[in-house]
Amino acid sequence: MSAHLVVLAAGQGTRMNSARPKVLHEVGHAPLFAHALAAGATMGSGRRVLVAGHGAEEVRAAALSRDPHLVVVEQAERLGTAHAVAQAREALSGAEGDAFVLYGDTPFIRPETLSMMAAARAGGAAVVVLGFEAADPGRYGRLVVEGDELVRIVEYKDATEAEREIDFCNSGVICADAALLFDLVDAVGCDNAAGEYYLTDIVAVARARGLRCATVACDESETMGVNTRAELARAESVFQSRRRASAMADGVTLTAPETVFFSHDTVIGRDCSVEPNVVFGPGVAIEPGATIRAFSHLEGAHVGAGAIVGPYARLRPGARIGDDARIGNFVEVKSSQVGPGAKVNHLSYVGDAEIGARANLGAGTITCNYDGVFKHPTRVGADAFIGSSTMLVAPVEIGAEAMTGSGSVITRDVPEGALAIGRARQTIKDGLARRLMSSLRARKAKRTN
Ligand code: UD1
Ligand code: MG
Repeated sequence: MSAHLVVLAAGQGTRMNSARPKVLHEVGHAPLFAHALAAGATMGSGRRVLVAGHGAEEVRAAALSRDPHLVVVEQAERLGTAHAVAQAREALSGAEGDAFVLYGDTPFIRPETLSMMAAARAGGAAVVVLGFEAADPGRYGRLVVEGDELVRIVEYKDATEAEREIDFCNSGVICADAALLFDLVDAVGCDNAAGEYYLTDIVAVARARGLRCATVACDESETMGVNTRAELARAESVFQSRRRASAMADGVTLTAPETVFFSHDTVIGRDCSVEPNVVFGPGVAIEPGATIRAFSHLEGAHVGAGAIVGPYARLRPGARIGDDARIGNFVEVKSSQVGPGAKVNHLSYVGDAEIGARANLGAGTITCNYDGVFKHPTRVGADAFIGSSTMLVAPVEIGAEAMTGSGSVITRDVPEGALAIGRARQTIKDGLARRLMSSLRARKAKRTN
């Protein structure tokens, strides 16, 4: 059965020192909350509820634009983690099966870990809590375990000296039957050091009802939360390390992995090769066997099998590079299709264009797509040859197998197979260069004397 998700994201994130709600800060170009949701979503397609608080409207808009099926509920007052979960009650009313509670600011819980929790639930534990051995337990809640049973969770503030010695800590991730979860949460009070409704108290409540609770342990690295900009940078670095490792495991060659930056949604096929200092913004897919050469920046782009991009190329959103095409140094492509085997090798701007198969755009070719108000399309037919430094003033169409002379400014359509030259005719003045030079030098000599 599919599990349901409750992602807690009402916290203000004061220490981020930001006008933006904390969970909208991004790791791998996806907001923090989306990472928690993505891990949870591997547990099946149950209902998904995000509990927002600080900046709820902004969080709601961002969340719904990514996932229209998400239910965003608002926790107007932050009265504790149990109170936060209670806000999801209506959204999960009648929901059957398990619910996971995750934190929106904790992006690295692995799907395998959640599966272990689901297995522990299936094994008969009413409530399963994800714990970790903390290198520095600090202010984490401590898991009090007897045998293989979780007896209770004690918050640092409420713990005795002996309990503070425990280093098996609460990650915050909890799994329970959805209906039972709300039942247990209802029984939680706020008689504690913080005066908050602690979600962690559901363990004691469950035990008092004769229900068994258990823990699953994960590595501390999975439980890393983001509270400051420094932690955000650390999280980005952890994310990038994981992505580099998974790209290599998927058969991608990274010459200098630590210099390649991925997005949460980057897709790279087998036997692709990525040279140093390449940045993948969101929405990039690379087909197998392509090469992305050094210092290239790609975003919202699709690169066909066997294509070579870069060095120093920039692919902007809507760039679709055909199989075996070449995009060379200092070439920018935006909202354009470059046909299979086509070449745009040097110093070009290609925007709002369709470049046919095997066409060749000479060095410095520019599509002049913008008139200051509107964008206009350019079409270049298959096997066309565009001379170096041609200005293609859009809207304009170059037929298949047509050519343009170098330095042309092309403002009218060029028929198939035709040669278009749009530049001033060259004239020759015999001996004029020498005469000009000697008169200039003579003038200079007169001045310095
Ligand atoms: C909580 C746990 C603690 C655990 C630690 C792990 C409780 C009582 N304590 O403590 O055992 O070791 O996390 O990091 O659960 N939130 C809301 N609404 C609220 C309160 C919190 O949405 O009213 C959200 C926060 O945005 C955050 C998460 O819940 O994402 C945890 O809240 P936080 O205040 O950080 O709890 P801790 O005191 O760290
Ligand atoms: Mg915390």
